[in-house]
Amino acid sequence: MAVLIDGKAVAAELRAQLREAVQQLWQERGIRPGLALLLVGDNPASQVYVRSKARACQEVGFVSIVEHLPATSSQDHVLDYIRRWNADPAIHGILVQLPLPRHIDEHAVLLAIDPRKDVDGFHPENMGRLVLGLPGFVPCTPAGILELLRRYVGPLAGKHVVVVGRSNIVGKPVANLLLQKTPTANAVVTVCHTGAADLVPFTRQADVLIVAMGVARAIRAEHVKEGAVVIDVGINRIVDPETGKERLVGDVHFEEVLPKVSAITPVPGGVGPMTIAMLLWNTYRAATGQIWNR
Ligand code: GUN
Repeated sequence: MAVLIDGKAVAAELRAQLREAVQQLWQERGIRPGLALLLVGDNPASQVYVRSKARACQEVGFVSIVEHLPATSSQDHVLDYIRRWNADPAIHGILVQLPLPRHIDEHAVLLAIDPRKDVDGFHPENMGRLVLGLPGFVPCTPAGILELLRRYVGPLAGKHVVVVGRSNIVGKPVANLLLQKTPTANAVVTVCHTGAADLVPFTRQADVLIVAMGVARAIRAEHVKEGAVVIDVGINRIVDPETGKERLVGDVHFEEVLPKVSAITPVPGGVGPMTIAMLLWNTYRAATGQIWNR
């Protein structure tokens, strides 16, 4: 029987720990972590994510600000918010929900965030630190994946991890984290993507298969080695052909793959809740200055 990797439960545990740490931080140092969230436009998935992030802030005792700007907002207008939050000592973390509308240069916006408040870890300074193995903010979804692997799989040294997808948000950072020569990582990492004519020869080699391609149920039984661990990062809304109702599915065809794997993350309830838990912890670390003073 495959183990279901319960990201929802782990995330709840991490939030409970954080709630206590936040109380202590307030009592001992009078600091309440503050997170500013910026949403531009009306992408329905982004609206849901930002709302969930703000709710999670409230649950652990953070202060959060949500600014929702119209899709037609200028880049300068967006940058004005970032400059204001960079200068505001009550704001410890700044998150710009991606994707941004096409007329806004995403890199310019991410570059404007003070790297010490970059709780998403998307600033080039933090990405560079990650690749070099230096302390810095680690992007939330990769951090969540590593935490699940640490708890459910153990040391990955010498294991073959295959990452499907090369995004800046998941694929590139998670691959780089796993190949670091550290006791928890030190894996042999392969990254494959849409440039591959056929994914099967790559994915079938995986001891651990991390799928972040953004295509509903693309990974089938034929892609997976017997006994593999599968981490499904996809969140796709589909109309179920059997019920005619909308539902969330991953990038992995869960039911088909389940009999072959040793462990797998469900969608929903796998990686998704971990992303938010890691965002909260990054914001706590930003508030306590833990990252850059090491
Ligand atoms: N869009 C999809 N995932 C993320 C994320 O982790 N952070 C931000 N800011 N935007 C996203």
